[in-house]
Amino acid sequence: MSEIDLSNIKTIDDLDVNGKRVLVRADLNVPIEDGEVADDTRIKRVLPTISKLKQGGAKVILMSHLGRPKGERSPETSLRPVAERVEKLLNGGPVLFLDDCVGPDVEKGLETLATGDVAVLENLRYHKGEESNDLGFARQLAALGDIYVDDAFSSAHRAHASVEAIAHLMPAYAGKLMMAEISALRTALADPERPVMAIVGGAKVSTKIDVLKNLATRVDVLVVGGGMANTLLNAQGVNVGNSLYEPDFVETVKDVLASAKRAGCEIFLPVDEVVAKELAPGTEWAVCDVNAIPSDMMVLDQGPKSIERLKARLGEMRTLLWNGPLGAFEVAPFGKGTLALAEESGRLSKEGKLISIAGGGDTVRALNMVGATPDFTYVSTAGGAFLEWLAGRQLPAVIALASGQVNAKHEAVAAG
Ligand code: 3PG
Ligand code: MG
Repeated sequence: MSEIDLSNIKTIDDLDVNGKRVLVRADLNVPIEDGEVADDTRIKRVLPTISKLKQGGAKVILMSHLGRPKGERSPETSLRPVAERVEKLLNGGPVLFLDDCVGPDVEKGLETLATGDVAVLENLRYHKGEESNDLGFARQLAALGDIYVDDAFSSAHRAHASVEAIAHLMPAYAGKLMMAEISALRTALADPERPVMAIVGGAKVSTKIDVLKNLATRVDVLVVGGGMANTLLNAQGVNVGNSLYEPDFVETVKDVLASAKRAGCEIFLPVDEVVAKELAPGTEWAVCDVNAIPSDMMVLDQGPKSIERLKARLGEMRTLLWNGPLGAFEVAPFGKGTLALAEESGRLSKEGKLISIAGGGDTVRALNMVGATPDFTYVSTAGGAFLEWLAGRQLPAVIALASGQVNAKHEAVAAG
């Protein structure tokens, strides 16, 4: 697999957008509760791109998906509350909301935009053509603008019309958030300051095999936590009692361990554990050595010795890449390990000792719980796309941005 040449990606830095209709693909897929935006982090993170385009005199047209409506309209997945929040956050001039994303009514609605105005289109996934990467649907979208800007890194792993097909149809640029996300991941993986540690946690190893495989060849220390670690421990002959683990993946995990060894990557696993009979708040718990997990107990967090050992090793690192919790952090007291790690990496980053990059919903939640988010070098808005990148896969939307121009030329030639 050859690496894509990211230097082919054009940015909006020196782009003249004055008077142009700029179609911006953002990821405004935010949680909605009782018809209101419950967390506007993703909206805030795309504001620098919107503001820059506004200041440049563009007519800014925002498009996004929300939820998974599968080609049908549904009130719970409308982007209307998102448009309202965009308007509030920009606090200058109304934001026009259009209740569809393609077609003559939308085109007519957009004619009312003046330079510096912003519009939000209705959910792209109300049309089946979005997820099927339909060229006809992409053409309908492309008709709405003069320039395309993709600022939706967290959707870049989907080969959908608004991020893939469309990039070949119009002059395509990466927005500021897209560039920040790509650059943060390159800082951690392509040319990191060493030593570099990756921490990968979460419940199931089966969902992150490729991530472990890829990281084992790239980082110096690979820490595995959460339920995933149980499968690795088991592969090393540890009896994990009643813990969550995946026997079907023990052999695969052995291969990962072997390839890590060949690559000189240290695999870092817990030496003691917090165990309980069930995962429930207020349940009785105990600490035990990793070789003495009682048969009727399950591992729910790493033990205090493991955490101290991990903190000490982290102190020797220059770069940290983190995805996934070390235990069942949402249920007290099983979040101690994850939260202690969040605090410690935040502290080291704040002191300038560590370059820290984190991504994924659970990890970001843990960082927010201890207030470590602002101290991190970079916190990604992406979940799935972040993981795919960690697995070494090329993301369809990023490939499209890097090759868009070439293909557009081909299409022009093909069309005669
Ligand atoms: C996400 O929240 O992970 C992105 O917005 C992508 O959404 P999807 O998983 O429904 O494609
Ligand atoms: Mg997802």
